[in-house]
Amino acid sequence: MSPAPILVTGATGRLGRLVVERLIALEQPVRVFTRRPETARKLFGKAVQIALGEFADGTSLEAALRGAERLLLLSPISATLVADQIAVANAAAASGARRIVKISGSDWTIDPPGSSISGDAHAAVERHLGKLPLERVCLRPNAWMQVSLANTIRQVLSGNPVFAANPDAGVGYIDARDIADVAVHQLLADQVAGETLNLTGPHVATPRQIAGLLSAALGRPVAAIGKTPAAAAPGADFEQRAVAQFATLIAAGRAAVATGVVQSLLHRSPRSVEAFISEHLVSEAALAG
Ligand SMILES: NC(=O)c1ccc[n+]([C@@H]2O[C@H](COP(=O)([O-])OP(=O)(O)OC[C@H]3O[C@@H](n4cnc5c(N)ncnc54)[C@H](OP(=O)(O)O)[C@@H]3O)[C@@H](O)[C@H]2O)c1
Repeated sequence: MSPAPILVTGATGRLGRLVVERLIALEQPVRVFTRRPETARKLFGKAVQIALGEFADGTSLEAALRGAERLLLLSPISATLVADQIAVANAAAASGARRIVKISGSDWTIDPPGSSISGDAHAAVERHLGKLPLERVCLRPNAWMQVSLANTIRQVLSGNPVFAANPDAGVGYIDARDIADVAVHQLLADQVAGETLNLTGPHVATPRQIAGLLSAALGRPVAAIGKTPAAAAPGADFEQRAVAQFATLIAAGRAAVATGVVQSLLHRSPRSVEAFISEHLVSEAALAG
């Protein structure tokens, strides 16, 4: 009998693809759930099974979960996040799956409740998972280097200073590759490491410190300038409102957290902001050259 595939939702996105690549490298059988089979085939070749489907289509979820024992639960920030993820989780429980590894919101968006619409949505899914007869672990990653820090670097490379609502409010940025490494670890481990894991990079960095690092790396002054974050425009969608709330929470210092969780699970340090910046600048220089 062939081994049970690991189902990955959100597989073609920023983080999901890193998880799939790692599972393939470990020669694990992977099934990806996607609305875009051609994109999945281009990304992963013949190394994966493709389950064509969409969260709102229960029949496609049922088919995707057939025979899968473990799954990575990931979906984008949206007004349908709770319904989408609960539909996947219920289908997983109904099909007899054993374990869900959920990519949740950052810990500071979830706790305390009521400060972030995105965090509250993830919290509702976490509570629901707790009622299902499955092993589950919810990974709560801090802000990803590949999103906001990469954006800051891009701005500076195009001649801007580092803009931030509070240049002295730090963030325990995490490299998405470390989140993927932990997700794979938790998919494959004999037992999950807990109900929720607060994942961060090795230390907290403020926008002012990041400006200093960029200044040293580029050999020119880079300023950190305080700038009031734009409020969500009237009629803004769920994701835009969530992002505006993140900026306010970060400015209040809520993301200034570094935990030892990645180190204790993977027995190595998480990747640092310094390493990410130098790697990013080297690849930008290679592209420019
Ligand atoms: N960025 C951060 O700093 C941060 C921090 C903490 C937590 N997070 C969490 O990370 C998650 C976002 O991860 P990401 O940035 O990797 O996502 P992403 O790049 O936006 O990818 C979204 C994925 O979801 C799939 N998808 C979207 N709608 C779907 C639908 N209706 N049916 C089936 N699949 C659907 C897409 O697949 P197809 O298009 O192929 O169908 C795609 O693979 C969010 O839950 C967010 O809260 C992010």
